[in-house]
Amino acid sequence: MDAIVIDGGIPLRGDVRISGAKNAALPMMAASLLVDGTTRITNVPRLTDVVTLLRLLDRMGCKGSYDDHSLSLDATRITSTEAPYELVKKMRASIYVLGPLLARFGKAKVSLPGGCAWGPRPVDLHLKGMEALGAKIELEHGYIVASADRLKGARINLAVSSVGATGNIMMAAALARGTTVIENAACEPEIAALGDFLNELGGRVAWTGPKTVEIEGVESLDQGSFENIPDRIETGTFLAAAAITGGDVRLTRCRPGHLSTVLSRLEEMGCATSQENDTLRITAGGRLRSVDVITEVYPGFPTDLQAQIMALLAVSDGTGVIQETIYPDRFTHVPELNRLGARVTLMGNVATVRGVSELQGAPVMSTDIRASSALILAGLVAKGQTKVSRVYHIDRGYEAIEKKLAGLGARIRRIREEGP
Ligand code: EPZ
Repeated sequence: MDAIVIDGGIPLRGDVRISGAKNAALPMMAASLLVDGTTRITNVPRLTDVVTLLRLLDRMGCKGSYDDHSLSLDATRITSTEAPYELVKKMRASIYVLGPLLARFGKAKVSLPGGCAWGPRPVDLHLKGMEALGAKIELEHGYIVASADRLKGARINLAVSSVGATGNIMMAAALARGTTVIENAACEPEIAALGDFLNELGGRVAWTGPKTVEIEGVESLDQGSFENIPDRIETGTFLAAAAITGGDVRLTRCRPGHLSTVLSRLEEMGCATSQENDTLRITAGGRLRSVDVITEVYPGFPTDLQAQIMALLAVSDGTGVIQETIYPDRFTHVPELNRLGARVTLMGNVATVRGVSELQGAPVMSTDIRASSALILAGLVAKGQTKVSRVYHIDRGYEAIEKKLAGLGARIRRIREEGP
């Protein structure tokens, strides 16, 4: 198992290129199942989650080839409509195959995804959405067994603006008979990109309100290709890396407009930012000021940057309060940050972060993708050496993060660790 070792205290300087969005690439890859032909997606990040989904699609007969950062997926000959537990348990987003399989083949057997490091991750909204489109859903021995003659358009109002449920229903509705309206839909950029991808393939997806999307079903979708959007969470993570080390960094190939809430919080903390086309520049001199943060659905502050901003608040001047409204238990990074000398206390879904003047390097353990990145951020500023173990978590969501940080001057390296 790999670990990442960091010797802290170096302000980051230089340019870093942002990779394509993991959470847009995954649903688009699943959407390739809708097409009797080949689809191409460029700017796909090299991540273990992408490889896991490629493996699952391959098991179904969807042949993928991954050349540099371009994916081509040939779903002409699908031989299985089953997503087995051993693959789904590695990545919950595998449930994205449910909608496309039902829409094109009228059946699907998909393992229920388990929970994750920070608690239950229900899929009831996905299943209710499929039923609203006319599917029959049964749960058998940990599997979702779904069937439908032909899905029919429906009006669906989501109780929670679930990213996954919105994407799954959107893909199912693309080939349904008639029109589907999803109200209280997730409007994250990754879901907007999925809609653009479906339209590129001949779909008819239109946003009729800030959180209302209308999908007019078509008989079939055509082959096509699409450039994936940049990863706004990777962008936010590198913004935080520059801020926490008091550096001066330019982030290229990013989409500043996807991070307006994040940028305004960083500016409140004392960072200076500027943007030009697909480049963002951030400089941070001196100790930052604490702020309060509430995580919300887009365009609010993203839950996927909660751990990272906590690392920043841990060394800021003052006390910051973080309220996590998306995943109330998403705090497995807290005890690990406190091992580095942070002073974070929890009360329900609220974390109080008392800024300290210095963190001390120490061995810590990552528990999930974003917690891992927060521990690396803390290690970048901690006095001495920090070793973050179980970094297979981070490889799920960040492409070569240690290489990109080293390119900005960080003293960081990956080591091989023995042991289970
Ligand atoms: C997506 O997960 C992202 N993953 C997550 O990023 C992200 O944290 C999350 O959206 C929120 O933005 C991918 O896109 C692959 P949700 P998803 O359905 O779709 C509740 C990362 O680090 N809910 O929007 O699973 C749920 O419990 C990952 O890249 C239901 O109640 O998230 C949560 O409270 C971590 N029933 C809220 O909705 C459902 O059927 C938001 O979940 C589905 C969700």
